[in-house]
Amino acid sequence: MSSISYLNGIFLPASEARISPLDRGFIFGDGIYEVIPAYGSQLFRLDEHLQRLDDNLAEVRIKQPLTNNEWKTVLSEVVARNQAAHGGEQSIYLQVTRGVAERDHGFPDSNVEPTLFIMSAPLKPLPASITEEGVAAITHEDIRWKNCHIKSTSLLGNILLRQHAYDEDAVEAILVRDGEVTEGAASNLFAIIDDVLITPPKGPLLLPGITRDLILELAKQHNIAACEAFITPAQLSDAEEIWLTSSTKEILPVTTLNGNAVNDGKPGKVWQQMTQHYQAYKQQLRNTS
Ligand code: PDD
Repeated sequence: MSSISYLNGIFLPASEARISPLDRGFIFGDGIYEVIPAYGSQLFRLDEHLQRLDDNLAEVRIKQPLTNNEWKTVLSEVVARNQAAHGGEQSIYLQVTRGVAERDHGFPDSNVEPTLFIMSAPLKPLPASITEEGVAAITHEDIRWKNCHIKSTSLLGNILLRQHAYDEDAVEAILVRDGEVTEGAASNLFAIIDDVLITPPKGPLLLPGITRDLILELAKQHNIAACEAFITPAQLSDAEEIWLTSSTKEILPVTTLNGNAVNDGKPGKVWQQMTQHYQAYKQQLRNTS
């Protein structure tokens, strides 16, 4: 069964969606995107995702095409229309580009409307091998620009870094800039150092992840000592636990870093605790459907 997408006001099979090659998203990567999971057909942390989208569109001066209520209606409709093909657990991808115009590095005329595209993919639970064994990661110098807080569709740096990790039999590249680790190529980073859960502070060198914020909230609620602080590569190599977080991968325990075992080489105790809290939070959302 084909998945249903949404393009500029029209629902249609993803395989039939067409855009102009002059779309600035295609030509320049001139767009903003979001990835929002749905559990039990309910969109996860929707207000937070829409707020980040709004902040990003404003920052790069792309017109906000919809109101918050319109976004909620259209995104829920995409989830509903994909229920038969994917069930209630979906990953919703949306992107807004600066629209179609003659190629010119400057912004097009103000009457050029943004292009809005939404699609859905099935969201599968993490395989048992990951929860039992964890994953391998490498560290790598961050080769991206200095506006990594913007969820831009220009992801060439991120994909080269992720592929570099795959080439080294790892699942993620943990990025290092000016002597500090910042985030993964498509994930945020947490480490347990001296019994405290630490994640690098928000700023232009990392994406303010929605999963990251939820984990800090859950840590507070459940009295897990946590803070936002800079982490050096040396501290990371000695960490008791390392996690990578994102909307689609949730919380991945890193058990091998640059070929060396992290602690005893098994997913840690705090990761197990946090995963239970995270799953309980998801379940509450499903129960609202
Ligand atoms: N990526 N940092 C980067 C560079 C990311 O690309 C992502 C997510 C995150 C985690 O953000 P969040 O918790 O809001 O998903 C951090 C998405 C999932 C992607 O590109 O597919």
